[in-house]
Amino acid sequence: MAAFTELVFSGVQPTGNLHLGNYLGAVKRFVEMQARDAQCLYCVVDLHAITVWQDPEALRGQIREVTAAFLASGIDPARSIVFNQSQVPQHAELAWIFNCVARLGWLNRMTQFKEKAGKDRENASIGLYDYPVLMAADILAYRATHVPVGEDQKQHLELTRDIAQKFNTDFSGSIAAHGHGDAFFPITEPLIGGPAARVMSLRDGTKKMSKSDPSDNARINLTDEADTIAQKIRRAKTDPEPLPSEVAGLKDRPEADNLVGIYAALAGITREEVLRDFGGAQFSTFKPALADLAVTSLAPIAGEMRRLTADPGHIDAVLADGAGRAETIAAQTLDAVKDIVGFVRRGPSLQAVR
Ligand code: TYM
Repeated sequence: MAAFTELVFSGVQPTGNLHLGNYLGAVKRFVEMQARDAQCLYCVVDLHAITVWQDPEALRGQIREVTAAFLASGIDPARSIVFNQSQVPQHAELAWIFNCVARLGWLNRMTQFKEKAGKDRENASIGLYDYPVLMAADILAYRATHVPVGEDQKQHLELTRDIAQKFNTDFSGSIAAHGHGDAFFPITEPLIGGPAARVMSLRDGTKKMSKSDPSDNARINLTDEADTIAQKIRRAKTDPEPLPSEVAGLKDRPEADNLVGIYAALAGITREEVLRDFGGAQFSTFKPALADLAVTSLAPIAGEMRRLTADPGHIDAVLADGAGRAETIAAQTLDAVKDIVGFVRRGPSLQAVR
């Protein structure tokens, strides 16, 4: 099997209401990944956002807000490549080629489409249906080897792996003929894990914390003020029992499990370690401790986001710089893909250059 250089890619949709689930399940882990000796690319996926209706003026603001959240959380745009998807045309271009690789049956199995389209499926956009194929293109335009995401993205990443595998198999002769050995695309590794891979609603521990929950009390937004954060945690649904001293005791207690998971992720420790300190404690003790921790972790991010969004020119410059660097990588992939697929293209092929 061909060896691929480690490269990390992930994306966040600019659809408003960036919340604690996005932060703990994704953005905080993006920051941690920067310590690895690998190029990281973090993308604001605006092409994905328009698979459902977005008000154009609001969308522009949301793209800048997610970028600000990346930077405020600690993503360093000099070290990582930070950009918005629509500035790099290769994503959409590769998605088309992958549309011709992916099978209808694969997409028909995607549970997120079924959830998002709901009962009115006939009225969903084709883009919403095709969403996971564009995701595969995002990742594979950079031949990314590792993708940190929350648990809800697992099935989409399996589809990415299937598309890479099928492309490698369908074009194996051409891939070898163009000097890429036995595989052109890596079989990407999803990085799903930690205590907050699936942060649940504060109002219902069986439902995912989500941007689209009609109740704002169900989630902590990254832009919430300290008072609001503390109040939402105080009001979070719980059960009447004290916290258990063992993780096994969290089974069938979804709200308790969720709050312990949030504490663990914010503190950078495990659920076991949280219960070592709080086992036997009532929620009247645990909730204020969690609220303090959440406020100390999140308030500085919200403050920095406000500072950054006040200067859209700076954010746009970061995105433009990132897009330029991203495109340099993606254009090489697309040139190679076009040669492999058999297209005639402008300029010397990579093989001729070599
Ligand atoms: P989005 O914007 O819906 O979510 C961004 C990230 O947040 C994670 N997440 C959660 N993690 C834990 N608990 C939750 N309640 C929770 N809610 C959301 C998501 O898993 C995700 O990691 N389709 C992607 C965006 C995307 C992408 C990509 C990701 C487009 N192309 C390529 C990786 C690679 C999404 O879910 O965005």
